[in-house]
Amino acid sequence: MVSAIVMAAGKGTRMNSKKTKTMHKILGKPMVEHIYDTLEKVGVNNKVFVVGHGRESIMEYLQDKVQYAVQDPQLGTAHAVMQAQHLKNETGKTLIINGDCPLITEETYRLLLDKTTKENPLVLLTTVLEDPKSYGRIIREGNQLLKIVERKDCNDKEVEIREINAGIYCVDNELLWKYLPEVDNNNSQKEYYITDLVQIFRKHGHKVMPLIIEDSEELQGINSMSELASATKWLQRKVNSYWMSRGVNIIDPERTYISTDAIIGADTIIYPTVRIEGKSILGEDNILTEGTYLENVVLGQGNTVKSSRITDSKVGSKVTIGPNSHLRNGCVIADKCNIGNFVEMKNVIFGHDSKCAHLTYLGDTTVGEYCNFGCGVVTVNYDGKYKYHTEIGDHVFIGSNVNLIAPVNIGDYTVLAAGSTITADVKEGDLAIARVRQEIKPGYGFKYLNK
Ligand code: UD1
Ligand code: CA
Repeated sequence: MVSAIVMAAGKGTRMNSKKTKTMHKILGKPMVEHIYDTLEKVGVNNKVFVVGHGRESIMEYLQDKVQYAVQDPQLGTAHAVMQAQHLKNETGKTLIINGDCPLITEETYRLLLDKTTKENPLVLLTTVLEDPKSYGRIIREGNQLLKIVERKDCNDKEVEIREINAGIYCVDNELLWKYLPEVDNNNSQKEYYITDLVQIFRKHGHKVMPLIIEDSEELQGINSMSELASATKWLQRKVNSYWMSRGVNIIDPERTYISTDAIIGADTIIYPTVRIEGKSILGEDNILTEGTYLENVVLGQGNTVKSSRITDSKVGSKVTIGPNSHLRNGCVIADKCNIGNFVEMKNVIFGHDSKCAHLTYLGDTTVGEYCNFGCGVVTVNYDGKYKYHTEIGDHVFIGSNVNLIAPVNIGDYTVLAAGSTITADVKEGDLAIARVRQEIKPGYGFKYLNK
């Protein structure tokens, strides 16, 4: 049995933020979710998140995907672990993870688990830094760890040590619960430090192994907004390099943000300032121009999305969208469509080769194949209380500035005259015109303008 305790109860004072630290996002995903996703990949069965400060936001976000232990007040990292009582009678290994270290990879966790054995019942990740900042210092003797000294408890010599504790531990679960009660708060911060387990394990004749990780950036802890930005930068470079190695043409990888959960096909060209968030899946040969934002979008092949925003939607192939359009809430766009500039679509099914080139709002609407929308068409889907559906058939021609008052049904091969307000169904093959007939008052123009 492999378990994990994620410590996420601290306030994150150094963030100077109202939001609880581990809910801050890296490439669109909160730290706690990065950790959760990696633990899932590693196959950790029991996941206990220790929450305290801002616990509502974490619990609302991760829901019942994990177990929770509440730590209130927060008396230190060992005290946090002690709250994970669910695991008290488990066997096997337990990972103990600082909630502010979200970049650890699946491979590193696997290595850490492999190294943890009956002979080495406590193993922890370390790395060597140019500037060891406020990290706990590693005091070792050969390949054995003697103790970890927190920055605030260091003497002049210990402060100089550049090997640091990353805050990621793997421990034999039975020994963990056996020795946790021995941790005290006899230190400068009057906190219960999880790092004290090192000396306690040694005292009882167990070995403690420091496992050095070369890539120190993977181990970085996030305590401030500036460290959050460094972590984002590091992950951004890693994700973008990966997709470039798979043939994605990222024009400026420093100004392109791709979620760790996205998939992108080769020869897709991504212009600077594009963001791709969530579980988006993009095929090959797409073009995304400046400012495009995609979140949970499935995009086929050969599409061009110009400076537009698409969320929770599906787009076929050879479609052009934008500039400045907005598709949201479950839109499904078929192949070869053209959705031009300043078009908003919400919950719309848009059929093959249909076109909607300018300044249009469609909401809760189904559109068939080969339809053409003039400029400024609106489906009026909301009466202030309820939302209604609009159904449009195939080969429908809709003139400019037509309002369709839902619920309404427009048959195949129909024409809706420009400027009409359509309030009743239109049958197959008919033309509907619903506007006031024009009147001419000769000479009134001159009169009005005093000419
Ligand atoms: C901790 C380690 C330090 C290590 C560093 C690595 C201790 C005593 N020190 O220091 O050796 O170099 O991480 O990043 O463990 N938390 C709780 N409850 C608490 C206190 C903390 O849940 O009572 C959580 C925090 O939310 C945070 C994590 O534990 O996610 C680490 O706490 P933090 O205060 O950031 O520890 P550091 O000072 O960074
Ligand atoms: Ca920290």
